[in-house]
Amino acid sequence: MTKKIVLTGDRTSGPLHLGHYVGSLANRLKLQDDYQQFIMLADMQALTDHASEPDRIVKSILEVALDYLAVGIDPKKSTIFIQSLIPALSELTMYYLNLITWNRLKHNPTVKAEIVQKGFGENVPAGFMIYPISQAADITAFKANIVPVGDDQLPMIEQTVEIVRKFNRTYNTSVLIEPEAMIPAIARLPGIDGQAKMSKTLNNAIYLSDPADIVAKKVKGMYTDPNHLRVEDPGKVEGNPVFTYLDVFYPDKKKLQELKEHYQRGGLGDSIVKKELLEALQAFLDPVRKKREELKKDLKEVMKILKEGSDKANAFAENTLKEVKQAMHLDIMHRLF
Ligand code: TRP
Repeated sequence: MTKKIVLTGDRTSGPLHLGHYVGSLANRLKLQDDYQQFIMLADMQALTDHASEPDRIVKSILEVALDYLAVGIDPKKSTIFIQSLIPALSELTMYYLNLITWNRLKHNPTVKAEIVQKGFGENVPAGFMIYPISQAADITAFKANIVPVGDDQLPMIEQTVEIVRKFNRTYNTSVLIEPEAMIPAIARLPGIDGQAKMSKTLNNAIYLSDPADIVAKKVKGMYTDPNHLRVEDPGKVEGNPVFTYLDVFYPDKKKLQELKEHYQRGGLGDSIVKKELLEALQAFLDPVRKKREELKKDLKEVMKILKEGSDKANAFAENTLKEVKQAMHLDIMHRLF
């Protein structure tokens, strides 16, 4: 039996944080044994809102690759590749652009929210507006069945499904595969400031590569229940990011339940809960940091992994492009001559 295919990616605009881990990396680690997995370093998508900073985008390719390898993505099981090394993705994007209306693009809720967040206003780059289509190209080029992402990416998967249906219907074919999103139980990790999403732009993230002392500082300063002023006051667990993080990273679920009840009753100080969290986070991050340092000593090996992954991904995407063009009767040389 052939394995089902998984594809995901990350914009290479900086190193990855705990939100990426919870929202997507953890699922990728689980999937890599039983699926054929492609993981994309989305440098082209990163350029859609960082056009003037190509050096940062290129530098981040290595940072993100190191993050992948450090958390345990295994290049023998997963194909890690660089988006800009796959020309077929750009060609597919051009063809898909004709299958979706401008109006539909304007109403993508994630894109709308990002336009506000990034302060683009009327000056949103055209490339940014159409990135959901280029993402549909990423997903369909690899005939992905499953796309493990955080819930903010659901509109992209929906648009991809629409494009797949429209394409297959319009060109009377079945070459494109409808993907399915895989959303984790805790789909997004709040920021250390209590905002709904951990993000680099919001400056509220704990990075996989943060040194231990920085992590300690960030946890100490974390937002908790603003009404939990004195230790004896009853505290809130829901919407309290310290407990959301504990839910993910605290190994002893029974003890966590006790901590929660104690906090809600009153009498448990924030500093004690934060200390528990810090220990759990360091236990998770220590081996990641160690592995990252080791990998950094042999960047040639990392480059080799990316080169080989990109060659393999390129061959796969080229083949899909060929099928797509055939379905569109654009195998012109064959048809006209
Ligand atoms: N848009 C994704 C993000 O911001 C990155 C991405 C690019 C992606 N192409 C993809 C994710 C294809 C899944 C599938 O994180």
